[in-house]
Amino acid sequence: MAPPTGASRGLPLLLVLLALGAMGAAAKPRADWAARYNKLEGRRGRPEGDADFCVVVRTYWGHGQRAGEGGLRRLLRSLQRQTVQNWEAALLVLDRRPFEDLHHIVEDFQDGRIWVFAEWIDKQFKPKEGVEWAPNYHGTLYNLTDDGIQVCPPSTKWLVVTNGDNEYADTFMQSVMDSGHGVDLVAFDFYSRFQRPTAPSCERFAAAPGLPACKRNRLRWCHTDLGANVINYRRFIEENRRFGALGAVSGGLPAEHFDGVMMQLLMAANWRVKHMEDVCPFNHAPSPQSCGWSGGVWDDRDIVAWATAGGQCISREEADTILADEPDTEEVTVQASSDGHVTAYEGVRPEHLTVRCLRKRDYMSDGVLGAAISWFNALCVDDADLPAFREWQRWQRELEGGDGPGGEGEGAFEGEGEGEGAHPAGPGDIAAQASAAAAAAAQEEGDEQQPENFWSLQEQFYKKGQEEEAAQGGEQAAAAAEEEPPAATAR
Ligand SMILES: *[C@@H]1O[C@H](CO)[C@@H](O)[C@H](O)[C@H]1NC(C)=O
Repeated sequence: MAPPTGASRGLPLLLVLLALGAMGAAAKPRADWAARYNKLEGRRGRPEGDADFCVVVRTYWGHGQRAGEGGLRRLLRSLQRQTVQNWEAALLVLDRRPFEDLHHIVEDFQDGRIWVFAEWIDKQFKPKEGVEWAPNYHGTLYNLTDDGIQVCPPSTKWLVVTNGDNEYADTFMQSVMDSGHGVDLVAFDFYSRFQRPTAPSCERFAAAPGLPACKRNRLRWCHTDLGANVINYRRFIEENRRFGALGAVSGGLPAEHFDGVMMQLLMAANWRVKHMEDVCPFNHAPSPQSCGWSGGVWDDRDIVAWATAGGQCISREEADTILADEPDTEEVTVQASSDGHVTAYEGVRPEHLTVRCLRKRDYMSDGVLGAAISWFNALCVDDADLPAFREWQRWQRELEGGDGPGGEGEGAFEGEGEGEGAHPAGPGDIAAQASAAAAAAAQEEGDEQQPENFWSLQEQFYKKGQEEEAAQGGEQAAAAAEEEPPAATAR
């Protein structure tokens, strides 16, 4: 796929900010970074290496086995299994609670390439307030990440920023070496629990002709992942890129979304991209696919609740308990989409990627499918699901009376031919009927899909955010941003 260079037309503001941002001086961690960042004693120092790949790993206690669900060992193993071995992994922790396993995990690996860059433990770094993210947590974490990026060895060609519970297939770095010549960014499609989030439960990650092998990496918000993109390190450093400084250009999106915002900015700056389409050597864990190949059951009953956003992987026993206790739940078996090379993960070699999946029996109802459609806004919808999404929005507007851009609609789909109430939508099944109507229409039109104009959608989305901020009398992020470059300050 060619890089979406047309992006710049839709985003003049971003370009201005980009130019301004490049003038700010990035905070280069001082030479005494060890005292500054690594507050605990007895950790291994940084390696003396000339790695091509610098992997910055953000982790916390939940990625250890003793207190959490694990994942860090699996990630580090997946790095060790790479067919390309000249990498370095810098780990960093920002949390209120210590990561007690970390020391043992790093020791056990006996691998000089793996080291702890920063361990910041303090109650001011608490990640959550109740179930929601604490206001400054992700911003601070990205700032610490930025400092970790600065400390990558000078030999670094490729930068990977990832989280401690992700996982890479053993050919991941090799593909970058093979395909990354002359490009600034290698973007992989990836396994994700947010694959087709507005499609029906469980079916949304099933393999089918014409659908992607995994989640399409579109290098934009809601369609990319931090760990799925391999960044040209020199260009990133030369342009003084900092994730933590994106607040001024994020259109009100909070810091946990800065991976997508960064990718959009790089696209707006015409970074040359190699898109590795339909190869999925990155697993944003847990995904339905990795749940399947590790023998779990995917719980897709509620993908919009805070606690289970995107769904979750549970054990066979947990699934049986749920099925026994909750008669409104059913189990189905899904042939999950894959690139045919899932075998590269953890040495697992299933012939077909069969995933057992729990869902609500009324998964096509407005309470389930409808809830997902209204939770994930238009920017998050997969192209394959846009027709159904549009139908749903249209019917929703009509139900609410008046066909202006009402309710939670994006206002982006006005002006489409509005049939006069020909559909017998009763309450409770609009989502299902909209899906069916869209599918029927697609048949008639020979499966033609109008690709969404993301950039105009996004402008509207950002404008809406800014209007809301203005209405609240809060700081006008955009206006302020136009006057001042994002400040790059030392912490
Ligand atoms: C992160 O650093 C930027 C400057 O690069 C600063 O503007 C921002 O306030 C910092 N974020 C937090 C949460 O400290």
